[in-house]
Amino acid sequence: MCGIVGYIGDKEAVPILLKGLKKLEYRGYDSAGIAVQGKTGLVVRKAKGLIKNLEEKINAEFAGPGTHEFKDAEGIRGFAGIGHTRWATHGEPSDVNSHPQTDVSGKIAVVHNGIIENHGKLKEWLTTRGVTFQSETDTEAVANLISYHYKGDLLQAVLETVGRLEGSWGLGIVCTNEPDRIIAVRKESPLVVGIGKGENLIASDVPALLEYTREVYYLEDREIAVLHKDHVDFYNDEGQAIQKEKTHIEWDAASAEKGGYEHFMLKEIHEQPKALTDTLRPRLSGGADTKGAASGGSADAKGAALSAAGARKINLDEIGFDASWAQANRVVITACGTAWHAGVIGKYAFEHFARIPVDVDVASEFRYRDPILNPKDIFIIISQSGETADTLAAMRMAKKGGARIIAITNVVGSTLAREADLVMYTWAGPEIAVASTKAFTTQLMCINLIALQFGVLRGVISPAQLKEYIGALEALPAQAEKILKGKENIQRFASQQFNKGKVFFMGRLFDYAASLESALKLKEISYTHSEAFAAGELKHGPIALVDTSTLVVALCTQSALFDKMESSITQVKARGAAVAAITYEDSDRFDRLADEVFRIPRTDDGLTPILSVIPAQLFAYYCAVQRGLDPDKPRNLAKSVTVE
Ligand code: F6R
Repeated sequence: MCGIVGYIGDKEAVPILLKGLKKLEYRGYDSAGIAVQGKTGLVVRKAKGLIKNLEEKINAEFAGPGTHEFKDAEGIRGFAGIGHTRWATHGEPSDVNSHPQTDVSGKIAVVHNGIIENHGKLKEWLTTRGVTFQSETDTEAVANLISYHYKGDLLQAVLETVGRLEGSWGLGIVCTNEPDRIIAVRKESPLVVGIGKGENLIASDVPALLEYTREVYYLEDREIAVLHKDHVDFYNDEGQAIQKEKTHIEWDAASAEKGGYEHFMLKEIHEQPKALTDTLRPRLSGGADTKGAASGGSADAKGAALSAAGARKINLDEIGFDASWAQANRVVITACGTAWHAGVIGKYAFEHFARIPVDVDVASEFRYRDPILNPKDIFIIISQSGETADTLAAMRMAKKGGARIIAITNVVGSTLAREADLVMYTWAGPEIAVASTKAFTTQLMCINLIALQFGVLRGVISPAQLKEYIGALEALPAQAEKILKGKENIQRFASQQFNKGKVFFMGRLFDYAASLESALKLKEISYTHSEAFAAGELKHGPIALVDTSTLVVALCTQSALFDKMESSITQVKARGAAVAAITYEDSDRFDRLADEVFRIPRTDDGLTPILSVIPAQLFAYYCAVQRGLDPDKPRNLAKSVTVE
């Protein structure tokens, strides 16, 4: 995820901004930039890659190498400014796409975390009013919209602008005409205001502030902070002054990086509701929430909102997906590891929603087989990093065979993203823990959206069914949140089971596919011997291993097959295994049989893996912690496998 810092005070802003950005490096980023209120206007400097690149650029221009003393460099001297580390969303990592983004006059600079969903419409609208855009970013639309509304009062311009935005944002804003203030505003993207002595700061995350203060205000959704060097004023989205309560930060620097969580993995597990929302929302249109746009007050904004209303549908225009894609004869999904598990679930989803033949293949197998390829095939290649060697090789082979490629990846500008015909990004933000969690569930969100769109275009799904499915997708983030609220139950269970010699995960259909990922999570971070099998296979082999030292986790969410799961559970219980069931919260079917039941909210049976994997992720995490292991850095594993 991107990082924001801002400073206003008596000190030189540049070194403070750079230092603050470095404190946010752990979040992952691909470029960085700053904007400072210099003597003759805003000084903006940006660089692709590491903060070091930005620093070198600034030093080469304004100071000697390795020094931050800009005494002889009036150009960059300034006592207020904003900085940003970018994790690319709209537009690949590059100097021009880095933040801060400025308006055409260069008088307003903006740093932004989040996604402006209606940036396309806003850019069109601004273009008709003479704005020429330099970057591919959504943020440049915000800078120019503020500029459009600016009539001498930055706060008023920001209020009018955010009233017209859809999506999520944490924004830091400066304007040359008002050098004595920085404005910060948020919706669904964290921002914290730090109160210093003769200086005030903003940051997207506490570690950037800790060197200067431990007294902070957390901004709530749609609140605005106006920072001066000696005081900060807070407003609501109607511009009325509000009072806020200060918080004293107790965390040390290390736990601050993890947002107070003990490990990145736990933090990332908890980020799933937001990641799911961010991945889903930009791909839906019609029947939109018109509140934001309508309250902006302008006729243009209201018009845009009204035209967006109507039946809710999946909209993949953004990725260039049109009806021609759905005419494929066959879909082939290839990936590795967790991403391959998302592919297995994808196969079931495509069959369920779109009634099209699907093959799913481990990329390292596919590339060395002699697969039969056809130009009417569509390949879906899934990779969190977009850099996995086997996955890339499989994609290139499919391309050579004439197939068209859809990539699902989390990294903008990755090799996979560059080489595929279409790219659908998972908006999960950077994943730091080696074991994939939020990348996996957002991959599932993407594949379900594509499968549903295939279903619509192939006439398999009726408008009424689509409405129901979309409703089910939209409910998932809150349902995931509900599961996370029950994590103590899973922690307790893990504290009883973490020393089990073997753990098996079993299920049928979507539950089998989710079992694959559940078993992988447990083995990779807790080093417990765990396997997954289709429950129907029990009698064909795995049951030979079941004894009193075994824990069997039975995933039971496929309603038509509850009887079958009941029978499988009975069989493993008869051999002395302990059994935990993961099932719907409104079903008591397995209460009598299982030793422990974890419940997930009711959804479409085809969407359950997005929810049922969460208890399994938590179980793996707590088992690893109980065993004294570091879940973020499992032995022998790397986050990105760029060699064979
Ligand atoms: C497991 C895990 C790996 C990756 C695999 C593919 O938690 O993260 O199994 O899924 O190495 O990586 P990507 O998705 O980057 O291609």
